[in-house]
Amino acid sequence: MSNIISICGSLRKGSYNRMVMNLLPGLAPAGMTIKEAPSFAELPLYNADIQNTLSFPAAVNTLADAIRAADGVIFCTPEYNFSLPGGLKNAIDWISRLPNQPFAAKPVATQSASPGPLGGGRVQYDLRRMMVFLDALTLNKPEIFIGSCAAKFDDKTGALKDDATGKFIAQQLEAFAKFIERHGGKV
Ligand SMILES: Cc1cc2nc3c(=O)[nH]c(=O)nc-3n(C[C@H](O)[C@H](O)[C@H](O)COP(=O)(O)O)c2cc1C
Repeated sequence: MSNIISICGSLRKGSYNRMVMNLLPGLAPAGMTIKEAPSFAELPLYNADIQNTLSFPAAVNTLADAIRAADGVIFCTPEYNFSLPGGLKNAIDWISRLPNQPFAAKPVATQSASPGPLGGGRVQYDLRRMMVFLDALTLNKPEIFIGSCAAKFDDKTGALKDDATGKFIAQQLEAFAKFIERHGGKV
């Protein structure tokens, strides 16, 4: 049994990465539940003065507690300018300053979707690098890069129109379940 939370790197309503994230509960193997993490949308820009004078914003602690309580975290994120969207980077920066580091020894899987051909190949490697610093345990393979995503989803309903993409995602979730069994909670 594993309880997973998912974090979408995009804030926009019609987000393709959110469409991917919404598919996850239906593609998860038996015994894995996947729920959306508390939102980072309202976090202020990271500023050490806020942390040091007012302490951490409540939304940071809410997200951090959800990460600590989860058996794993799945990121579904777009690539912005070959890297992470600012809002997601900001949320991870806030989380990274907390004691009892929420990402330490936490199994993490990454996915990205883009209307471009590479499907966000570069953002995932920057995200992985951040997870190295935070001592997370990031699943290596299979990787999920959903290129040309505009043709693979129904913009209006969010339904997936490409069976192969669904199969790849299900394979990653299966691998993630085994990865958590092997490594979950161990540094
Ligand atoms: C600021 C910005 C930078 C972008 N940079 C990239 C990029 O480097 N690589 C890429 O594949 N797409 C890039 N895009 C296009 C996004 O992949 C596209 O807007 C995508 O739909 C965003 O994800 P979402 O649908 O989940 O919101 C960029 C979009 C924005 C707004």
